[in-house]
Amino acid sequence: SIEKVTGRRIIDSRGNPTVEVDIVLADGSLGRAAVPSGASTGAREAVELRDGDAARWHGKGIDRAVAHVNGEIAASVRGLDAVDQAGLDAALVALDGTATKSRLGANAVLGVSLAAAKAAAAAHHQPLYRYLGGEGAHLLPLPMMNIVNGGAHADNPLDFQEFMIAPVGADTFAEAVRMGSEVFHTLRSDLLAAGHSTGVGDEGGFAPTLRTAEEALDFVMAAIERTGYRPGADIGLIMDPASSEFFRDGVYDYVGEGVRRTPSEQADYLAGLIDAYPVLSIEDPMAEDDLDGWRELTARVGDRCQLTGDDVFCTNEALLREGIRTGVGNSVLVKVNQIGTLTEALATVATAHQAGWTVVISHRSGETEDTTIADLAVATGCGQIKTGSLSRSDRTAKYNQLIRIEEELGDAARYAGRSALLQA
Ligand code: PGA
Ligand code: ZN
Repeated sequence: SIEKVTGRRIIDSRGNPTVEVDIVLADGSLGRAAVPSGASTGAREAVELRDGDAARWHGKGIDRAVAHVNGEIAASVRGLDAVDQAGLDAALVALDGTATKSRLGANAVLGVSLAAAKAAAAAHHQPLYRYLGGEGAHLLPLPMMNIVNGGAHADNPLDFQEFMIAPVGADTFAEAVRMGSEVFHTLRSDLLAAGHSTGVGDEGGFAPTLRTAEEALDFVMAAIERTGYRPGADIGLIMDPASSEFFRDGVYDYVGEGVRRTPSEQADYLAGLIDAYPVLSIEDPMAEDDLDGWRELTARVGDRCQLTGDDVFCTNEALLREGIRTGVGNSVLVKVNQIGTLTEALATVATAHQAGWTVVISHRSGETEDTTIADLAVATGCGQIKTGSLSRSDRTAKYNQLIRIEEELGDAARYAGRSALLQA
């Protein structure tokens, strides 16, 4: 049972404060979890409690959330069985008492939820992926590697937030990392040769001064080819326009490109990109408030492209069910801090899988050295992970953990590759 709960303030990959929680069980087992943080957040996410004191941390302090962990939450979960994750998470939800975890803070609640899972795994002398996923957990995910950053994650004019590569043709996860790294370095030299900056954005991808998605895609395609890989067959393209960020007054306002697109024009534009490039998946192609646009695009290209909902579902099972019912996409992004407990995040995964939808386990743009999501990707067998570029330790820590898991699984390991995606 849970004996000790300690919340503390650490800093994330952007240098902002975030919550870390240690849980110690009666047998001495320790679980530690750090909470990530988004920049382009969905409107219906669980609430990340910030202090709002402008004199400290530019208003981003999380001292109240830490105090909730060390006070109310610690007092009420002490003595609970960490193995009963559902019971613990239900107690946390009830203690908070709000629909969005706004009272205690989803950052406080999630830290405790994940730390408890890790403590329970330690008590069972099992790695987290096996403790949560069982003996059958053996599928290493296809990584979506974000090598060009724009939008809210960089200071360049690119309207789209993320341009990713996915090594669908690799035989193993370790080989996928090698392929991604090679392309990343080719891209670096190509950008340099073209006179661009090779500084990186929040998720470790380059942030060159490009204006259109086509310019970015052309650089990525050239880098794939120049490295010796076949675009599409060996390495596919994935984008996250994060379009809620530039949907204003009913139109998609491409400020960097200097173009406005209506929802139908947005669907035309994206369908054109899918025709012109080997695009396997697009996340948030339409805004969270443009469900008609979402349905139009899904009806048009959903049979040949994975369309993953991030802002539109916020890892919320009820929102996902509504999306499944009404034809909004065919895939869901899962970010544990969007919903605030492990149990709720796993319920969202289960609901997606029951409907035949795909699931992508994801980081946030603000991360830490915590690698829980790597284990979650294997535990759920979802086959896809989005965790940034081939640089910056907050991103590569997850890839490195997956390399270790693949090694540990040995002959039992299987790399998802292309099979993880919806089959066209
Ligand atoms: P965020 O971005 O973590 O800043 O919200 C990631 C995403 O949109 O997928
Ligand atoms: Zn997104």
